[in-house]
Amino acid sequence: MSAVREHFGSRLGFILAAAGSAVGIGNLVAFPVAATKSGGGAFLLVYALFVFFICLPVMMAELALGRRSDKDPVGAYREVSGGSRFWRIPGWLALITPFMIAVFYLVVTVWVLGYLVETLRGNLDLLATEAHFGQFINSPVVFFYLVILMLAINGILAMGVKDGIERAAKTLMPMLFVMLLGLVAFVLTRENAMLGIKYYLVPDFSKLDARVVNNAMAQAFFSLSLGMGIMITYGSYMKKQDSIPGSARAVAITDTLVAFTAGLLILPSIFHFNPQIDTATLSDSSAGMIFLFLPKIFLALQDGVGYFGASVVAAIFFFLVLVAAITSLVSIIEVPLATLRDERGMNRKKAIYTVAAIQVVLAIACAMSFGMADWLTSFAPIAGENVSFFDLVELIFYSTILPLNGLLVCLFVIYKWKWANFDRELQQGDPTFAGSISQKYVNFSLGTFIPLILLVVFIITVADKYF
Ligand code: PHE
Repeated sequence: MSAVREHFGSRLGFILAAAGSAVGIGNLVAFPVAATKSGGGAFLLVYALFVFFICLPVMMAELALGRRSDKDPVGAYREVSGGSRFWRIPGWLALITPFMIAVFYLVVTVWVLGYLVETLRGNLDLLATEAHFGQFINSPVVFFYLVILMLAINGILAMGVKDGIERAAKTLMPMLFVMLLGLVAFVLTRENAMLGIKYYLVPDFSKLDARVVNNAMAQAFFSLSLGMGIMITYGSYMKKQDSIPGSARAVAITDTLVAFTAGLLILPSIFHFNPQIDTATLSDSSAGMIFLFLPKIFLALQDGVGYFGASVVAAIFFFLVLVAAITSLVSIIEVPLATLRDERGMNRKKAIYTVAAIQVVLAIACAMSFGMADWLTSFAPIAGENVSFFDLVELIFYSTILPLNGLLVCLFVIYKWKWANFDRELQQGDPTFAGSISQKYVNFSLGTFIPLILLVVFIITVADKYF
């Protein structure tokens, strides 16, 4: 067991680190596309309601559990449950889930890095060709980028919570905000930009069906980095005098604002490229958008700024996505590191080597599952189709288990840890929370309809994707 637990240095540091975790590829690409396809302003409204009325209480539950136990997720569930056998399960799930999500997220981030390098080399026109992505992901150079990325992420992690994670967030997050706003300002001056804004924002409530609502919920949950043990772990590095409700609110607002702002960048660019575009044809997958579609969009931004200008815009965008992905990866890889340190008594360095060694092997397997290795490409039969190793990892750990983990956190905090103890933790650092409407709402919702909604999301996903 580590002697003195590491802590974030300041409340702002914690908020930026947690926001760094929450702001990721999901915000910058998946969110704007989902919003445009699913009713614009109507989707934004539903999404915002989910973030503040459903996800925010879950985030408070995770942070409080972490801070109360001063432990990694496995230790947190064990300690707070008094060693219950059953409650060991969510602890382990909150370790394996981030471990595996990190693996496929690493691979996507490797591609982003590759696209950034190609853009900087002046090859944006090449990236915009149809065949390039397939060739790129199957070329051995991805392994080189994987090594670079692992060195960068683990280099940050090696410096610890305050000097590594927090300092990186304090540098990278403001940089991300500035780059994002700069790009928005630029694309808003382009022709047909307002058409894109219109498609993004004008509400169309007729598009809100059960599926859209389910997707909005899943997207909000993923975007706030819930169900992955991250907030439990980060909670354990929070100081007792800091307000959990206040900090969680700041993280949720930042995350949602960045997602919203990303739409002001993506949609005008798409409509500048093609004002007649049928938004229903846009790819649902972030990877499809980033690597197959957006390079063409950026290439089309040339008028007035030329090929060089368009390349600069594209490079800033890929860099932005890379930064967002790195701060997310740092947070998710910190979870298994915390477990190895707390449960196995390893030091940070040894934990990093152990986790990195396994993750590199699995990430290589994911990277090879697009054609390099046949058995990985058609790895397992799901719903009558052979899916790749990459897709299987994403399906199990991201689509399926996340809502289940969220459900277990809610039930655990309210019924096992008991809401009165949970409240006591929330009131530490936030005396005004005691007896407030927010407190009543958080307790009631976590014990009743939030777990129910997460159960519905879980069931719909299983019915939809496995049969
Ligand atoms: N919130 C992140 C995103 O939107 C999700 C995430 C967190 C993914 C941490 C990986 C690691 O992309």
